[in-house]
Amino acid sequence: MSFQIIPVQLSQNSYPIYVGENILRDRNLLSSHIHGHQVLIVTQENIANYYLPTLQHTLADFQCHTHFLPEGEQAKSLNEWQKILETLLQQGHERNTTLIALGGGAVGDVTGFAAACYQRGVNYLQIPTTLLAQADSAVGGKTAINHPLGKNMIGAFYQPQCVISDVSLLSTLPKREIASGMAEVIKHSLIGDADFFVWLEKNISSLLTGDVTLLLKSVAHSAQMKATIISQDEREQGIRSLLNLGHTFGHAFETAGAFQGLLHGEAVALGMVMAAELSCRLGWISDKDKKRIKQLLCQCELLRTTLQYPSASEILKLMKRDKKVKAGKLNLILLKKIGEAVKESNMPEEMIVSVIDTVLQTL
Ligand SMILES: NC(=O)c1ccc[n+]([C@@H]2O[C@H](COP(=O)([O-])OP(=O)(O)OC[C@H]3O[C@@H](n4cnc5c(N)ncnc54)[C@H](O)[C@@H]3O)[C@@H](O)[C@H]2O)c1
Repeated sequence: MSFQIIPVQLSQNSYPIYVGENILRDRNLLSSHIHGHQVLIVTQENIANYYLPTLQHTLADFQCHTHFLPEGEQAKSLNEWQKILETLLQQGHERNTTLIALGGGAVGDVTGFAAACYQRGVNYLQIPTTLLAQADSAVGGKTAINHPLGKNMIGAFYQPQCVISDVSLLSTLPKREIASGMAEVIKHSLIGDADFFVWLEKNISSLLTGDVTLLLKSVAHSAQMKATIISQDEREQGIRSLLNLGHTFGHAFETAGAFQGLLHGEAVALGMVMAAELSCRLGWISDKDKKRIKQLLCQCELLRTTLQYPSASEILKLMKRDKKVKAGKLNLILLKKIGEAVKESNMPEEMIVSVIDTVLQTL
């Protein structure tokens, strides 16, 4: 068991991210972040089959209950959130209980929101089991559930006690889910680290086959980048919004597909191609760099060509319902160059529609 510690420094509620191998077995580490005697592990059946016995063994000194969520985005519904609260009440969990999210971003988001609401807020730990969650969603305290009218529309900023990113858990993750997580890793490189982008171009084949050393580096680097941003802007008043590269387009595609069909990383990848196309039309990134971005995403098989996509105007309509809309204006994150992102709120709607059209026709 070895790990590195990445601090998330906040004005209140700072916490560590642990990144390493086989840390799920580290009894002292986990226990040091649980303050009462009760624990509710929230997870999904298939993840439980692999990792629940190990976690229960690690937490043998605590009174542990387990709550199961359905697969995928279905886990992030009002109904499933309410069921977590019912389990807590039925099992008599007190205010010093600790929730543990053992799963991907979907489990983490709904568990965090349940922790934020139960008895006005109880402790929770993130144990992310997907690349996407280790590299991105488990860090930063954004918790949420979906509404049929919009993704992540109900939620809270609520920070965990710690994040335990054990890359050994990624060995059972399907290839398509590894690729989905790579979309967020690539996003981090695009918004703030051109050298990291070049490193990803060089190592993408080995990363996709699950090379643990390379995955460890990707998770640690992404978590570090995100932690640095969150430490400066916990509530997304400024720089944190850059993390939304590809997301305003992406969330619209996810909402249009009723949160099925496209994985989150696939929707974000599509959004990043659109952001790159728009940035290129503005004369910011070169045609060559635009193609490099698309090429890297294609190598991950993130751009799904066989789906029936909605029209560009339908997507624009959904984009305008995004949380990032202010005074009716869309806030898009675009690229000045690979490694440098900016927020732009004055894009003409015709241009956005034209970009969506072009990208969908040339996938
Ligand atoms: N809170 C944030 O800041 C933030 C950031 C990015 C994304 N998100 C959210 O994250 C969600 C997507 O997360 P995700 O990509 O992790 O998907 P997910 O949570 O739906 O998990 C994907 C699938 O992988 C399975 N799985 C998880 N870990 C596994 C493992 N180790 N072995 C085998 N199977 C495993 C899950 O059961 C599920 O079927 C979206 O809802 C998105 O909105 C949140």
